[in-house]
Amino acid sequence: LRHLLTLEGLSREMLHHILDTAATFVGVSDRDVKKVPLLRGVSVFNLFFESSTRTRTTFEIAAKRLSADVVNLNITTSSTSKGESLLDTIDNLVAMHADMFVVRHAQSGAPFLIAEHVNRTRGSEVHVINAGDGRHAHPTQGLLDMYTIRHFKQDFTRLRVAIVGDVLHSRVARSDIHALTTLGVPELRVIGPHTLLPGGLEQMGVRVFTDMRAGLRDVDVVIMLRLQNERMRGALLPSAQEYFKHYGLTEEKLALAKPDAIVMHPGPMNRGVEIDSAVADGPQAVILDQVTFGIAVRMAVMSILAKS
Ligand code: CP
Repeated sequence: LRHLLTLEGLSREMLHHILDTAATFVGVSDRDVKKVPLLRGVSVFNLFFESSTRTRTTFEIAAKRLSADVVNLNITTSSTSKGESLLDTIDNLVAMHADMFVVRHAQSGAPFLIAEHVNRTRGSEVHVINAGDGRHAHPTQGLLDMYTIRHFKQDFTRLRVAIVGDVLHSRVARSDIHALTTLGVPELRVIGPHTLLPGGLEQMGVRVFTDMRAGLRDVDVVIMLRLQNERMRGALLPSAQEYFKHYGLTEEKLALAKPDAIVMHPGPMNRGVEIDSAVADGPQAVILDQVTFGIAVRMAVMSILAKS
């Protein structure tokens, strides 16, 4: 694997290989072992053109635990504000001996553009990881979600999984759908209002529900999504109260799922909009476990890319 740009098209074996590799790093990310030397001498550049708390920080921690040298480019004070193009920025960072770029960008496809550019100009030397591009893909979030599900539920082939909320604008939903389908989840549901669901879901084998209570019945895993207001330019937004009434996860609605169902959320959460605090902080929530597993998963991705 040279770059990680999307989970679409990755085989079941490759997904399990990444998750198995992540499992070997959980001890490292749990503070038992501070560092391993796998990326010694490798320079990782974090390029976050869009804001982030979890992804940027856990990539930095992961790279440091692999002994890489990490540079966090401050985009707002970089020369992109003077009009320097994305690819000129990349060329200059490669001239500083960047080995790996971790890229988040509001434009779908930006990490692909960078990967094509470095393929053309740098042969096999430079690796690109998509840390979330527009509404398109967030592959490491998808992988850490799969790690979390495997950790708590073991066997993907026996699960009923529901993804709830603004699927239309969610790169996490797209990555999760690709991964869950490849890993053999027999019943994948999405739940949301028609206006926030993309077309073509049924063709991907996904069951579509607009009634949250019907969609949650007997599921093993509930993945909640945030309303991605920043990507809804010009759209008619539901009010937070109205949305919460129909699609907010409360204890009463969660009781329709299996008693041992887990509740996931990629963050950031909007409490009282898509999720009630009693659920977000409740015994079935594994939301902070997802964040912790993200370190090991990102260590796995970077170490696998560096070997190729
Ligand atoms: N899940 C996620 O991508 O969170 P951040 O935007 O904080 O990185």
